[in-house]
Amino acid sequence: MSKTINVNDGRGADYDIRISNGFQELSELLKPFLNTGRKTVIVSDSNVYPIYGEEIKKLITDCGAFCESFVFPAGEESKTLDTVKELYGFLIDNKMERRDLLIALGGGVVGDLTGFGAATYLRGIDFIQIPTSLLAQTDSSIGGKTGVDLNDYKNMVGAFHQPKLCFMNMDTVKTLEKKQVLSGLGEIIKSALIKNKDFYEWLCNNRESVLSLNPEALNHMIEQTCLIKRDVVRKDPKEQGERALLNFGHTLGHAIEKACGFTLTHGECVVLGMIGAMKISQDRGMISKDEREIFTELIKACGYTMKIYGLEKEKIMEYTRSDKKMEAGVLKFILLDGIGNGVIVRDVTCDEISRALEEVLE
Ligand SMILES: NC(=O)c1ccc[n+]([C@@H]2O[C@H](COP(=O)([O-])OP(=O)(O)OC[C@H]3O[C@@H](n4cnc5c(N)ncnc54)[C@H](O)[C@@H]3O)[C@@H](O)[C@H]2O)c1
Repeated sequence: MSKTINVNDGRGADYDIRISNGFQELSELLKPFLNTGRKTVIVSDSNVYPIYGEEIKKLITDCGAFCESFVFPAGEESKTLDTVKELYGFLIDNKMERRDLLIALGGGVVGDLTGFGAATYLRGIDFIQIPTSLLAQTDSSIGGKTGVDLNDYKNMVGAFHQPKLCFMNMDTVKTLEKKQVLSGLGEIIKSALIKNKDFYEWLCNNRESVLSLNPEALNHMIEQTCLIKRDVVRKDPKEQGERALLNFGHTLGHAIEKACGFTLTHGECVVLGMIGAMKISQDRGMISKDEREIFTELIKACGYTMKIYGLEKEKIMEYTRSDKKMEAGVLKFILLDGIGNGVIVRDVTCDEISRALEEVLE
């Protein structure tokens, strides 16, 4: 069931996404990157490295390359400049040079942080993504956005830096906690809603296989979502236009994520944000009542939190206004103009946002 998707935007990004079962194929794919005696450092977190780290290290050392590992505590709290500073120190101690290679083994936190370390260490070295969470496989490992959080602000410091290879072993999803699977699935549903009606209908009609992570269904979901993301980032690598569509559900989602102190996963917050954005889309006559009901039914069936308790609406509104998606004081909001057709809208009012939030706040 292995598949390769090439990402080439004609502006620097040129790499393959390999979707595979197991890590067997990784060895062959890594060889071209290692055959000049390059040194490597695997960057991973305290959950992922103990499960997959030694297997990857062995693959690399069997190719005759030097390999060390830098492992930091799992979780968004580690996605900081302090961890990046520790990584720089580790790279210096291991005499890593500009021609050497970092390998990000983990979820979106590992990928974003490693990518940022690679973008900035010695003014930029190469890195490879080995995403292990469903979210990282369908979203964060593709497109070259890297970065860390600063103070209370998510992804506030970063750089665009493209990986040289993105290798996805779909089997790693089996060791993910259920809530992390749902987090990734949230981004998958988002991608289908903004770009591909057929895929969205497939998700609605195959929810049993999707939720049980049936291997064929998983393969299809990952491939379709990677294709959507590839096509969007290829046209707009630096988010000057269409790439903003990927933020469907994120304007409210990010604000909710911050207001709840990151107690819900990223994908769960994106789903809450999508509930709000669907309400605005329907109120504006851009999607029908039936379309919104089918969406609600899908996310209920998946087991998502539909309402969040104890958060102040005003606080979320304030966070929304200070979001990075503001452009010259105007909020960019993503709505649906029909299923499979996301649109960027710049005139969403405070009243609309307030009504949208009432859908998800208890
Ligand atoms: N760069 C981008 O374009 C982009 C896009 C979307 C999200 N993101 C970022 O991605 C991050 C969220 O990614 P995430 O949900 O993968 O978070 P994460 O990296 O924190 O992973 C979630 C949890 O799952 C664990 N984990 C990962 N893979 C595992 C596996 N196979 N088995 C067992 N446990 C595993 C991790 O240790 C962690 O505890 C956020 O920081 C977000 O800002 C970036």
